[in-house]
Amino acid sequence: MAQPWNQLVVGDNLDVLPHVPALLGRPVDLVYIDPPYNTGNDFAYRDRFPDHQAWVAMMRPRLAAAREVLSGTGAIFVSIDDNEAAYLRLLMDEVYGEVNFLAQVVVNLNPKGRQLGKGFATSHEYLLVYARDARRTVLNASTTETVDPADFPLENADGRRFRHLPLRNTNKKFNPVTARTLHFTVWGDPESGRVATTPFDGAVEIGPVFGDGSPAVWRWSRPLIDQRPDDLVCRRVKGRAGERVDVYQKDWLHPLAAGDVPGVRRKKLRTIWLAEEVGSTDTAVAELKDVVGHVFESPKPTGLVRRILGTMPDDAVVLDFFAGSGTTGHAVALQNAADGGTRRCLSINSAEATREGSNARDAGLLTVADITRARLRAVAETVGGGFEELSV
Ligand SMILES: C[S@@+](CC[C@H](N)C(=O)[O-])C[C@H]1O[C@@H](n2cnc3c(N)ncnc32)[C@H](O)[C@@H]1O
Repeated sequence: MAQPWNQLVVGDNLDVLPHVPALLGRPVDLVYIDPPYNTGNDFAYRDRFPDHQAWVAMMRPRLAAAREVLSGTGAIFVSIDDNEAAYLRLLMDEVYGEVNFLAQVVVNLNPKGRQLGKGFATSHEYLLVYARDARRTVLNASTTETVDPADFPLENADGRRFRHLPLRNTNKKFNPVTARTLHFTVWGDPESGRVATTPFDGAVEIGPVFGDGSPAVWRWSRPLIDQRPDDLVCRRVKGRAGERVDVYQKDWLHPLAAGDVPGVRRKKLRTIWLAEEVGSTDTAVAELKDVVGHVFESPKPTGLVRRILGTMPDDAVVLDFFAGSGTTGHAVALQNAADGGTRRCLSINSAEATREGSNARDAGLLTVADITRARLRAVAETVGGGFEELSV
């Protein structure tokens, strides 16, 4: 039988982490955590660390234990705010190695900015990203979701959309001196659009030149041009010096992958993630309210975790050992439902008591793990994929 998409273990993560390989039967591909930090914004649970050292001392053995269960090709993403970002960065360097640092992403989770208290209206947190081994990681720092179809305004006879990119390398660093083999003549016919590396009837000779007429180079080698003639087009263009004939690459919105199946176009992820792309704390509260209620003060939006999931293969085994309201498990189910993936998620949260008088308490959720369980159960019912509670 297929494994359920969501599993939960209730307990202190330091005790549970060593059992994770046995529980999952394989190493973890992706860790996402949002550890407790002193936000001064207590609700269902309390973060209490007298100083940064106490926080680092709590985190160090847990991050080390997580590294032990992480696959050699895996990666870890950690959410953190300004209070601990500097301490966490050094701690991650120590435990995972500076060479395995991949990014410190700014996440704009509170677009209006924090209005409480004095000073700046803080509107972001961070996401620290480390590979278990940067040379081997399968993490692909790109996404399909920010590709804008409007950037591909042209349509081929078969209905596929594309845009024109000059075949000429527009970067002046590349010229006939630095890239000698890419400076050659091609033949093109602006009437039919055909391009070739050898002369043919109706073709004119075209050499790569910069706008000022100085010699340039192509981006593609001769063999590549011979291999992909359908991805090139010869056309007349108006330049500063009047009309000329030039060669363009047809850059497809959906490039054809193996077997002529339309592929998925990916775009490199920038290191600033906007609330309009990944959601905000407000949208996260609303998402949680929809499935369980307003029972947790600062959940993360599922969009944030889904973007993280998109950097790893769609059969990734995911671990969140500070699961809180269960956002990671929810995101895994949504992502599987959306793309047919077979990701699995193990959530761990301690049976920390919810605060007297909190919404969680009033709803009969006596511990934070009760919140995690309630959400993951509701997700299994509404999104699918099943849910199972394990113990160690
Ligand atoms: C910031 S919250 C995580 C919120 C979560 N990302 C979400 O979207 O709901 C941190 C969580 O870690 C849990 N926690 C703190 N110490 C823990 C420990 N030693 N073991 C397991 N869970 C712990 C707390 O109960 C809290 O739910």
